[in-house]
Amino acid sequence: MRKRDDRGTVADYIPELSRVDPAQFGIAVIDEAGEIAAAGDCDIPFSVQSITKVFTLTLALGMVGDRLWQRVGREPSGSPFNSIVQLENERGIPRNPFINAGAIAVTDLILSGHQPREALGEILRFVQFLADDPTIHIDKAVAASEQRTGFRNRALANYMRSFGVIDNPVDFTLGVYFHHCAIAMSCRQLAMAGRFLAHGGIHPNTGRSVVHPERARRINALMLTCGHYDGSGDFAYRVGLPGKSGVGGGILAIAPGKATIAVWAPGLDAAGNSHLGRIALEKLTKRLGWSIF
Ligand code: DON
Repeated sequence: MRKRDDRGTVADYIPELSRVDPAQFGIAVIDEAGEIAAAGDCDIPFSVQSITKVFTLTLALGMVGDRLWQRVGREPSGSPFNSIVQLENERGIPRNPFINAGAIAVTDLILSGHQPREALGEILRFVQFLADDPTIHIDKAVAASEQRTGFRNRALANYMRSFGVIDNPVDFTLGVYFHHCAIAMSCRQLAMAGRFLAHGGIHPNTGRSVVHPERARRINALMLTCGHYDGSGDFAYRVGLPGKSGVGGGILAIAPGKATIAVWAPGLDAAGNSHLGRIALEKLTKRLGWSIF
């Protein structure tokens, strides 16, 4: 991967992300026994962005259960991650929890009954617990950068509020959303945080249950069908694993019963997914026979 010069393009609609060096590449794989294989820039924290939507969905399902599905759908959108068009014909209900509109609606559910600071603390502590690492933090410069420029997300949130899909003041919901997207994690931390999804909802480090096995299975299903936006079909075709990407260039992939894999390469393809990250995952799953198909 280091030798390749097709690196995609670093996201620039969040100015702070445009400053990231596209020459970086990291990978971490953690198997069922907890063995870690890691290489490259696997310990450099990067902006996880949309990958955090897996953790906010898990948290929100724990808080409100299946009531969540009254606000958000479970179908792939076939549209870009920040698209607004489907909301008009679908009563303001986002197609799934991983597109921006869906993740904003999920964030709004977590916020309800709390102050923004408390909701954000809840999300951060959950991620720290999953990764077994209290040092994980929010990159304030990235959050501020998106807060200044997130006009499209503001449009999505206001539009959903007009349909009653968002309950809280839009600025509060977006404040929490922008900040949880700005959580910074390394590949090693991310692969650790995703382990409950590979092992039937159990956190293998502690043996404690994070979610019911059925819920873990369903979150994996959503990652497979919706985790890469309008690139989800291609990711399933090439890699064959549930995965979630972020515009920071990270991907968390789950090999059920086997391992978690986190890759990071900041350059993105046209759908906003890590270009080299996807290629690395494709090579790895092919070599190891890890595709679920
Ligand atoms: O809302 C946004 O645009 C970003 N905070 C997250 C988008 C994202 O990561 C899409 N992923 N490929």
